[in-house]
This record gives sequence, C-alpha cells and structure tokens, in this order.
Amino acid sequence: MRVFSGVQPTGNIHLGNYLGALKQFVELQEEGDCIYCIVDMHAITLPQDAKQLRESILDVAALYMAVGIDPKRSIVFVQSEVSGHAELGWILACNSYTGELSRMTQFKQKSKERESAPTGLFVYPVLMAADILLYDTDVVPVGNDQKQHIELTRDIALRINNTYGETFVVPDGRFLKTGARVMALDDPTSKMSKSAENAHSRISLTDDPAKIKKSIMKATTDSEGSVRFDAAEKPGVSNLLSIYSAMSGKSIPELEKYYEGSGYGAFKKDLVDVVVEGLRPIQERFAEIRGSEQLIRDLKDGAERANAIAEPVLKRVKERFGLGL
Ligand code: AMP
Ligand code: TRP
Repeated sequence: MRVFSGVQPTGNIHLGNYLGALKQFVELQEEGDCIYCIVDMHAITLPQDAKQLRESILDVAALYMAVGIDPKRSIVFVQSEVSGHAELGWILACNSYTGELSRMTQFKQKSKERESAPTGLFVYPVLMAADILLYDTDVVPVGNDQKQHIELTRDIALRINNTYGETFVVPDGRFLKTGARVMALDDPTSKMSKSAENAHSRISLTDDPAKIKKSIMKATTDSEGSVRFDAAEKPGVSNLLSIYSAMSGKSIPELEKYYEGSGYGAFKKDLVDVVVEGLRPIQERFAEIRGSEQLIRDLKDGAERANAIAEPVLKRVKERFGLGL
C-alpha cells in the first residue's frame, strides 16, 4: 500500500495539523510505504516571504521527523525538488474544468479574503491531485477539510483512465475521527488554522508552556459549567474534550465522568498539563533535528527516492497523451 500526504510550509504547525494529519502519518508507517511531502509550491499560491518560506520548509521537515516520521523508512522531501509535480499538474489542469474548480470551498474561502485571487490559488487542487497521482498512491491521510480535494483527485484520475486507458491508481482518502477537525480555541465554530491572526486561537507544536497555558485558560467555553460533549450546544468545551482525549488516549465518556461536578477551571488546568507533557518530547527532538546537517541530507535523499518513483509514472502519462518524442 502506498501512502502519500503533504503539509504546507507556512509556519505555525498546530494541534489540528498534528491530531488531524501528522499522527496518522506516523501510524501509517506500520501499514505501508509512506511518502510525505512539504508542499512549498502550494505555499506560494499566496504571497510568501522567501527567507521565511525557506525557514518554514526546514521547520516542517524537522517537525515531521520529531513527531516520529522516520526519513529512512519513509520518504520525506520538498515538493519543488521533484519537477514532476509541476509537469503532471499541467497535464491534469488540461483535464479538469473551471466549473468543478469553482466549487472548491477552500478556494471560495481563500479568494473571498482578497480583491483578486492568483490563478495558482484556483488551480491549487489540481496540483494537489498531481502530487497524489504522481506516486500511484493508494491512500491519502488528511484532515476532513481536504475531502473535497480528494474527491476531485479521484474524479480527474477516473476521467483520464476512462478516456486514455488505465493510467492512474485511483486513491482513497483516510480521515481520522477524533481530532479530525480541531477547532479554534477562541472561536470553536471555525477550525484551528495556521493563519488566524489571534495566536491564542491555536496551539503551535513549538509553543512554550506559558503560551500553551494562556491559550487554553483563555479558550472560549460556555456558561453552563459542566464538562460534557455536545458539539452543537457546547462547541468550545467539546473541542477541548476532543483535544484532551486525543492527547491523553482517554475516551470522551471517561473524561466526562472524571470531571463530573467539577468546573471548567480544573478541567482546563489538567488539559494544560496533558498538552504541555504531550508536546515536550516532540519539542526536544525538534530542537535537535532542526539544527542538524542530517536534516538537509535526509531531504535530498528523499527527493531522489521520490523522483525515482515519479519518473516512470510521468513517462507512462506522457505516453498515454502522445506527448514528446
Ligand atoms: P494545512 O495547515 O492546511 O497545510 O493542513 C495540513 C494538514 O492538517 C491537512 O491534512 C489538514 O487537513 C490538516 N488540518 C489543518 N487544520 C486542521 C484542523 N483544525 N483540524 C484537523 N486537521 C487539520
Ligand atoms: N491541500 C493540503 C492542505 O491544505 C496540502 C496538500 C497538498 C496535500 N498536496 C497534498 C495533502 C497531497 C495530501 C496530499 O492541507
């Protein structure tokens, strides 16, 4: 089974990314051949500072490894180091429709926030499809918010297979239940995001204990005062319960029972400890890996191994389309 996924190097990797994506990445190493990509070409669909982008690429790579992705066993690489992504992206762009791309909610959301949207932002899901199809991927572990992009990838793959003959493996998404959608701490009706202005809306994996404490203690709850899960009526408390459960391995009913009769203060305080202690080993490994020469060597080696898989696939695609000599 081949597994492929990607994360954008846009800083602030947070608990949502960890629980919704990275944790699955680590677990899947037991089940298949995993390829994990730092999608820097996706990052430039919105303006980036070049120096900052370079740093973020290495930050994300080091975080991947710090949470337990083994760069020897899996392939970890940077998207722009393998030119096949852009090449296949073009071919897929010619086989997708502006109508279907206009329906992508992520595009609608992101373009709404600006006066004029870059073309790259519009074709972003096509590049994502190329990332996945370039490696004959079977399974794509992602957060729930990527469901629509996975569906589009499948549609494009099936469309080309039907028209040009068997060309692509049609991939499946794999979505986590608990933690699949971690909500913002200050506004539990929107998801925790890297780009939200309020840093207390998220917990970044590299936050220090004081920041984690402040963010959790400030988190929006409700006036009822009882710790129980009810996503519709109590989105704030339910989100904190989901985080607690995912970070501690304790089930939500177990936690509800334990905190019966106690207020939010005690519950939040314990959650601070659970998160701080859960992130501590990751942060220690991150500091070690981020400063090492080995990180660059691992990424270069990853790009070479990725390219070795991508090349024959791209060759097959070009043949089907009658491209080249
Ligand atoms: P992004 O931050 O958009 O680059 O997302 C990287 C990965 O984390 C993707 O698989 C997302 O689906 C996942 N992800 C991002 N935000 C959240 C969130 N708040 N809850 C759960 N998963 C998330
Ligand atoms: N679009 C994904 C996100 O925002 C990132 C991504 C790019 C990705 N290419 C991918 C995820 C390929 C899985 C597979 O989270």
